[in-house]
Amino acid sequence: MSRLISFDDAREKARQRMPRFAFDFIDGGAGTETGLGRNRTAFINRVLEPRALINVDGDLSTRTRFLGRSWAAPFGVAPVGLAGLGWPGIDRFLACAAEKAGVPYCASTPSTTCLEDLHDCAPTSGWFQLYVGSSPEIVDDLIERARVAGYDTLIVTADVPRPGKRRRDLRNRFALPLAITPRFVWELASHPKWSLAVLRNGAPRFANLERYAAPGASTTSLASLMAKQSSGRLDWDVLADIRAKWPGKLILKGILSPEDAKKAAGQAVDAIVVSNHGGRQLDGAPATLDALGPIRDAVGRDFPLIVDGGIRSGEDVLKALLAGADFVLLGRAFLYSVAALGEEGAAEAFAMLHAELTNAMAQTGLRDIVDLSK
Ligand SMILES: Cc1cc2nc3c(=O)[nH]c(=O)nc-3n(C[C@H](O)[C@H](O)[C@H](O)COP(=O)(O)O)c2cc1C
Repeated sequence: MSRLISFDDAREKARQRMPRFAFDFIDGGAGTETGLGRNRTAFINRVLEPRALINVDGDLSTRTRFLGRSWAAPFGVAPVGLAGLGWPGIDRFLACAAEKAGVPYCASTPSTTCLEDLHDCAPTSGWFQLYVGSSPEIVDDLIERARVAGYDTLIVTADVPRPGKRRRDLRNRFALPLAITPRFVWELASHPKWSLAVLRNGAPRFANLERYAAPGASTTSLASLMAKQSSGRLDWDVLADIRAKWPGKLILKGILSPEDAKKAAGQAVDAIVVSNHGGRQLDGAPATLDALGPIRDAVGRDFPLIVDGGIRSGEDVLKALLAGADFVLLGRAFLYSVAALGEEGAAEAFAMLHAELTNAMAQTGLRDIVDLSK
């Protein structure tokens, strides 16, 4: 029997299990966190129209065609850096469970398991997310590593020209390497399950980037290398250069303006993620659900659009699809699930989201998710 009741319950359990600095890193947003809240409020305020007298007996289909292949459901795992802070092995658990569930898993540049190992976990459903850092050589090498590993889809993240100002991290003095202060030791002692799991498996590391640091480099120099992995140099020319180098599908993530979306669609980008980085970058950015409609109007009905930010249930997935998305990604919801329940939390999260989505479909008279695009 599933132990997962809702992603809100999982969040609360994760909050109890994790030291505060680790939970806040995952849970928090930029500035006053108004933008973070706005993502949720947009979903809460959107309503679904119940429909009656439609035969929805039996299995309902969530199978979706997206970017040239069929997926079991129109949702996937968003790229998250330093996810290992949630629970050791979290990237691997999510990647393997996503492959099994037939939904995409996005490995990230700052993931805590290297992209090659994550591709082994998700050989058919793995996507790789790229930060365009200040070193063109490292960017080129990451693109080449992703290609050689076998990824067919590259996501370029466009919304980190500077790191977001996250007040919780500043208050917690969260930085790498973690400073051993009395408060830090207290946090570890009062969250023994998390601390023992981390002790057994080793502290989270920037697994993709270690090879670019000098042999035996300290955590400090790795952390400064990581800081350079997002930069303000990504522009349309750099994007065109990446397009020319990457033979597979190319997704641009972090678009909120219809003008940018239209331009990206004209640059042979295969899909866009309407995203504000889960409210972690610009506090004043619009809710992604609100930004979606104008972007859909700008790019036309057929251009592949993904949305993320604030999705916490199957009803939210349906709301996003009705608002014009073809596909959605979730970040924190899956992190909370594994942080709360360990490895099994990954499969339970996909199963729960699927069950919630089909429940919402039944109540709104939708037998097959593909009927939405008719
Ligand atoms: C802890 C954390 C780390 C993240 N790291 C990355 C990253 O490395 N690359 C990226 O493109 N987006 C990153 N994101 C943003 C997510 O991909 C996604 O846009 C966001 O989590 C969606 O919002 P949600 O968490 O409300 O679902 C991160 C988000 C979180 C919460």
